[in-house]
Amino acid sequence: MSMIKEIEKLKKERNAIILAHYYQPGEIQGIADYVGDSYYLSKIAQQSEADYIVFCGVEFMAESAKILSPEKRVFIGNVHSNCNMVDEFLNEELVQLMEDHPDAAVVSYINSSTEIKTMSHACCTSSSAVDIVNNIESEKIIFVPDKNLGSYIAAQCPDKEVILGSGKCCVHDNVSAREVKSLKETHPQSKVLVHPESIKDVRDLADFIGSTGQILNHAIDSEHDEFIIVTEVGIGFALEEKTENKVFHFPDMVCGGMKRTSIEDVYGCLKFGDNEIQVNEEVSNKAAMALENMIKLAEKR
Ligand code: 13P
Ligand code: SF4
Repeated sequence: MSMIKEIEKLKKERNAIILAHYYQPGEIQGIADYVGDSYYLSKIAQQSEADYIVFCGVEFMAESAKILSPEKRVFIGNVHSNCNMVDEFLNEELVQLMEDHPDAAVVSYINSSTEIKTMSHACCTSSSAVDIVNNIESEKIIFVPDKNLGSYIAAQCPDKEVILGSGKCCVHDNVSAREVKSLKETHPQSKVLVHPESIKDVRDLADFIGSTGQILNHAIDSEHDEFIIVTEVGIGFALEEKTENKVFHFPDMVCGGMKRTSIEDVYGCLKFGDNEIQVNEEVSNKAAMALENMIKLAEKR
């Protein structure tokens, strides 16, 4: 039997689902039950009745799924799937910001360590960040780790005072306005769709700013047929799959951590229980509050 057929069989036996982020390799998106942005996948993980979740994304995504659903068995497709924004941001920086601004609420981007989440009032994703910051009661907010997403939120929420951490995503932060302008010169008809982890000079060139899922929906719904996409190239798979006769141009943007998952890895998770996520119960309970607040505040009317 082919490995893909084995995976299908094992999924039924274990009551399992496969979740994949838009940055995953095309063949992984192709076998997933659900493909989406961070917010969508967190909600699916929380609401699903599956007993077993194979998360093909980066580690913080699978950990967040486990924290939101501790009763489920959650597996990360490949154990070396790291997010450099999470790895580089130090807890000490948040501790110092909290000491300097004791009256501020802490909102952490879901792209953060579990320890950062335990120190946060709420988490957010790029698609939910503006609603969450607007809906949280405090007028003063410490936002970590991503300084680029943070400055985007601060501009969108003028009634809030937003204190920024110094984190960044090396994949998005490395793209310059000059690179995007040069793509625009070569493809002048293109609309520019930008992820908010990008620097301000790049965001200023955007026709639309949004999460991976929002970029995809915008491209599908748009009457235009040519786009410059300023986010990781993996989303090209879903863009091609869900549109017809539309053309997409990308700067050089590859997230190494997102590209490690293979079909064999997914098979190993389902067949042998490889790569199961474990989170210490006490830590998990503290971090769960921030993740649950994310969903409550994102959906508060
Ligand atoms: P999304 O929430 O837009 O999927 O973003 C996740 C991410 O890691 C972007 O770099
Ligand atoms: Fe992390 Fe950047 Fe990769 Fe997103 S693209 S998972 S923020 S390193």
